[in-house]
Amino acid sequence: MSDRFYITTPIYYTNDVPHIGHASTTIYADVMARYNRSIGKNVFFLTGTDEHGEKVAQSAEKAGLMPQIFVDQMAEKWQEIWKTMEISNDEFIRTTSEGHAKVASELLGRLQGAKTPSGKDAVYEGVYKGIYCIGCEEFKSERDLVDGKCPEHRPDQIVEKEEKNYFFRISEYMFYVKDIISGKKTTIKFADGTERTYDPIKVIPANKLNEMLSKIDDYIEDGRDMSISRENVAWGIPIPWDEKQTTYVWVEALMNYYTATQFEWPDGKKYTEFWPADVHFLGKGNNWFHTVIWPCMLIAMDLPLPKEIYVHGYFNVEGKKMGKSLGNVISPEALVERYGIEATRYLLCANMPYLDDSDVSWKLFDERYTSALANGLGNLVSRVFKLADGLDIFVDDAKLGEFVQEGNLKVHNSYAEYKLHEVVNVIDELVRELNEYFTKEEPWKKPEEEKKLIIQTALEKLLLIARMAEPIMPQVSDTIIDSARNRKVPSNLFNRVEGDK
Ligand code: MSP
Repeated sequence: MSDRFYITTPIYYTNDVPHIGHASTTIYADVMARYNRSIGKNVFFLTGTDEHGEKVAQSAEKAGLMPQIFVDQMAEKWQEIWKTMEISNDEFIRTTSEGHAKVASELLGRLQGAKTPSGKDAVYEGVYKGIYCIGCEEFKSERDLVDGKCPEHRPDQIVEKEEKNYFFRISEYMFYVKDIISGKKTTIKFADGTERTYDPIKVIPANKLNEMLSKIDDYIEDGRDMSISRENVAWGIPIPWDEKQTTYVWVEALMNYYTATQFEWPDGKKYTEFWPADVHFLGKGNNWFHTVIWPCMLIAMDLPLPKEIYVHGYFNVEGKKMGKSLGNVISPEALVERYGIEATRYLLCANMPYLDDSDVSWKLFDERYTSALANGLGNLVSRVFKLADGLDIFVDDAKLGEFVQEGNLKVHNSYAEYKLHEVVNVIDELVRELNEYFTKEEPWKKPEEEKKLIIQTALEKLLLIARMAEPIMPQVSDTIIDSARNRKVPSNLFNRVEGDK
């Protein structure tokens, strides 16, 4: 098993600030990065911002700012928010950075110079005529629309376009990508006599893979290729062989995962050995681009393919899609304000939309917070430490190392499948057991020696829980371990929430 682990989040559009969907993807990836560091892997965790394209340019105009000034301000905001949410990314990529732009241009040249398996030019010039959703930054077919509208964006985001574009002959590659994501080792024979063999890409969970397999069939049936440039969007990376055109924003955005490993970062670091990525984390709205288009592009550019793609569902609020117009948006700031950062991370993991969309509400968050954290872990911590206070209980640091291993064994399989809600359940269960153990043993009624033994055992179990919770709640975990080491009683970890939201 390789000791390297490269994990990415989507790079987010700088037209707005994060909502809970963006926050959850980033927190999930962060938990995975922290877990992999804890098992001794050499981790590269990348997130960033997608700063070019029509949508961002329009937002800049609305704000009355030059696009570069606008995205500089927005990128700053995203980075600040991730910092407050304890996101431990190693680097933050911006698509307007020099490093990205330079490597992306090289990649475009490589794409343009490529031949398809049947020996045709991979890129050709054509005219695009059709419907475009600015919200998705995507050309749409009739099949993608519901009643002529994009299911994810406002109707005014749909426009008609007719323009000269460069096209990528993606339909030829899709045929092979279908096999690759279906779990088959796949050999592609090229017209010039060369051949290349690809290992499968694992798309998790299976329902998200199946959606893509049927979409590939539709796409091939429609016989469409993919436009990779724009004629009238000045805010982008120029097409290297035709400066009048800019690169389609999704094409250069996907490239970020690779470009980040190719240039030297301002901190002097280089991550060349990290490509291919171990896993791309994303929400279902980005599935098609990552699971189908990105592998097609990589094959054409003759680069190795990512190993896994994990696609989660969306958060709905009381059965309805979250949206500004519905007035039901739960913002990450509001969550943090009510529960604190660590509990917010815990609650988003506990409600992970792993297979399907997940229904959340303030009531649900309040209930889980109160039962699992305020009355659960929080109460347990204060019980154990108050009773341990004044008793001569010693915490052996060597034992802490054993706890890491024991804890990791319990949750290893859940992490391997990215099931963070299961990790939370295991932790909750251990907290419940330990609270019950305490209630049953009633150490406060026992003679000194017996009491000490019970509390020593409880404290050790609590340290195991703290170690297991570390990727999700790093500060809570540190506080518990630090208090045990220095024999002090920590202050209340989870305050009770007051009133209804
Ligand atoms: N810029 C593109 C991604 C390019 S990656 C090469 C983009 N950006 S975005 O700002 O719109 O963010 C999309 C991501 O936000 C999704 O992949 C998903 O992770 C997350 N979510 C957006 N809405 C969501 C919900 N309602 N619920 C959960 N996550 C969702 O698309």
